[in-house]
Amino acid sequence: MSSKPTIALAPGDGIGPEIMQATLDLFREAKVHDHVDFVNVEMGKSVFDKGDSRGMTDIAIRTTEDCGILFKGPMETPKGGGGKSINVTLRKMFNAYANFRHFKTLPGVTTVYSKAGINLDMTIVRENIEDTYGGVEHRLSNDMIQCKRLISAPGCDQVHRYAFQTARKMGVKKVHCGHKANIMKMTDGLFLERFKRTAQDFPEIETGDVIVDALCMNLVVKPQQYQMIVLPNLQGDIVSDLCAGLVGGLGFAPSANIGRHISIFEAVHGTAPDIAGKGIANPTSLILSGIMMLRHVGLLKHAAIIENALLAALESGVHTGDFGDPAMKNYKPAVGTKDFTQAIINKLGTKPETVAAVPVPEQGAWAIEKHARPASQQVIRTFTNVITHVVGCDIYLDTPLAPASVAEEMQRCCADTPFNITLISNRGTQVWPTGSVYTECVDYYRVRFELKKDIPVGTIGQSRAVALMDKIAEKFTVCSFELLRTFDGIKGYSLAQGQ
Ligand code: NAI
Repeated sequence: MSSKPTIALAPGDGIGPEIMQATLDLFREAKVHDHVDFVNVEMGKSVFDKGDSRGMTDIAIRTTEDCGILFKGPMETPKGGGGKSINVTLRKMFNAYANFRHFKTLPGVTTVYSKAGINLDMTIVRENIEDTYGGVEHRLSNDMIQCKRLISAPGCDQVHRYAFQTARKMGVKKVHCGHKANIMKMTDGLFLERFKRTAQDFPEIETGDVIVDALCMNLVVKPQQYQMIVLPNLQGDIVSDLCAGLVGGLGFAPSANIGRHISIFEAVHGTAPDIAGKGIANPTSLILSGIMMLRHVGLLKHAAIIENALLAALESGVHTGDFGDPAMKNYKPAVGTKDFTQAIINKLGTKPETVAAVPVPEQGAWAIEKHARPASQQVIRTFTNVITHVVGCDIYLDTPLAPASVAEEMQRCCADTPFNITLISNRGTQVWPTGSVYTECVDYYRVRFELKKDIPVGTIGQSRAVALMDKIAEKFTVCSFELLRTFDGIKGYSLAQGQ
């Protein structure tokens, strides 16, 4: 058994094995293998084909856990059936809470911005586990489907702390938080509030916040104004692909999924089945992800040497068929994956001339702190010792009745309970006691019950609210239920539109 640290390696499907081989050939020539061993793990199509809907074997999971680092090629998501995207499963299973992507203008990769002489160098840190990616979805009525958007304080804290720590390491001067807290005041509001709270521990870093729609426009109009942007999961997913487009496409965008115990490094493009096996795939995204991985584990010198060689090769005009601009002075015909990789290997030890070279540090050695394997799942908490009180409940009904009829029925149900009906909303808009006749309703209502005026807060618990739901359920289909609570006296629920 080798005494070197090990990285779990999953070459992937389609072009995966070709671009992984290219990356490993380059790493070997750069002497990365003197410091680290790679151990193959079985993940992807071959495992799905054997009927395992996780797409990875038990041994692959255990090996990845033991290594703490997974380097993976793109993997095919099975069409139909029960197989979910292995990429999403891996991030969630191993709690890789932050997705880190670096977008940089590369020589030889022509974009509208490079043509305008605008050099981009920015990073996106995206929350990677929560939000609508929890995949908690239900059909609530004939016509209504729900996807729960989950944002937790510890989830926010983990991603924000990682972003600020990385900004500090990279010398980033300003970090922005992208959000939609003007609409989603509680979920995105929490994301933004925890961003501001975390920023207090990094006083040397300037901060800003920007609403995500304005951010998208700003990124297209003047992308160079941003250095690092932190975003919730879905917004981050969309904005990071936008940023990939700014620097030439997904083929030039590396990606790291960072967790406390396990981190995953991967190319962001897919398996490219149309060109698989032809030897023409572009390995740049995987190489750049590999460079990120080397920096993450501490092999800073190797990372810098390989990055400079890649930049030098690209500026010499070498390119695969998916990029290259015939208008460029040093334009050359496209080459295959092997020749492209060899061109980078030939440049090892040199520096690019037309773009800034990456400073090569003197040293670099494995520096990953290994945490002990947890005995069981950990519960992570931010707020403790909060005093909460039940003040009512929202009961959701599947009914085709009109709002006034729903109100009449509900008033009867709550007559001799501690609750009054205070509002009915449909798709989030108040339709009772006041509302517009122009508000069209669907077959799914929220009925809000709050404590009657003469009942002091803190004198009843959730069982009375559950009893009310039970009573309503005798006559109506209750499709969901939420308690209304205060947390240290502050309402833990939003108001309806128009309330
Ligand atoms: P894709 O990224 O595989 O291909 C889109 C287009 O880009 C194709 O024309 C392809 O030839 C080209 N392309 C992609 N990477 C390239 C490279 N390195 N060099 C040259 N050309 C390249 O996206 P698509 O077709 O939507 O997905 C194919 C499969 O990949 C699906 O099963 C999908 O689920 C999976 N996928 C996996 C990802 C991952 O493992 N992280 C990410 C995205 C998709």
